[in-house]
Amino acid sequence: MQKFLTIAIDGGAATGKSSTAKGVAAKLGLMHVDTGAHYRALTHLFLTHGVAPEDAPGIARLLAQSPIGTFVEKGGCDAKIEVDGAVPAESDIRGDAVNASVSKFAAVPAVRAALKDYQRGQREIARAHGYAGLAMEGRDIGSVIFPDADLKIFLEADAATRAKRREKDGQADAVTERDKLDSTRKTAPLVCPEGAVRIDNSHMTLAEVIDAIAALAAKLS
Ligand code: DC
Repeated sequence: MQKFLTIAIDGGAATGKSSTAKGVAAKLGLMHVDTGAHYRALTHLFLTHGVAPEDAPGIARLLAQSPIGTFVEKGGCDAKIEVDGAVPAESDIRGDAVNASVSKFAAVPAVRAALKDYQRGQREIARAHGYAGLAMEGRDIGSVIFPDADLKIFLEADAATRAKRREKDGQADAVTERDKLDSTRKTAPLVCPEGAVRIDNSHMTLAEVIDAIAALAAKLS
């Protein structure tokens, strides 16, 4: 039987993590999990209920009363977070309000603790759905969530390339500012995990990046 593969893909904002992780998952038959979407979904929940990042009791209360689950796309490779039994709309979790405060909520230890258990559980969900493995993207996947990942990738791109990518997506998003907050927080900061392969994709096509990662994965078996 083929070994179940865990690939951790980390990197800063707008370094192409989602397209890359999705492409790698599709190519290798893995389940794709975007953990940035998890932080965005909870941020949307907090904002909707008027709870601020400094409001520890409000955050704890909402986390306790809002069950999170997983929706696995039929015939595809995406696994999405459900909050209170529903997958939050993309337009809600990728809007300016969430962009502006997601890094602040992502720095709250109780939020990270809730998502850590949830994210670690995704490996079993991928197995149960018959995937050959898991491609999980985020900021702390190779360092905290799956330090035992079979392959760790750290994506990088220069500031101009990243700003251009977000502009193309139609998103007003201060990517360097968000990276600064994400890299300097106390709990699980954005770092290049030990043992990760660094890929600077500023001058690479998406297909080239996916092929490079698939080639590294092929060497594992
Ligand atoms: O990948 P993204 O831009 O959608 O992530 C949104 C925010 O979530 C990002 O600013 C930091 C946070 N995040 C995190 O702290 N840890 C992760 N594993 C993924 C995202």
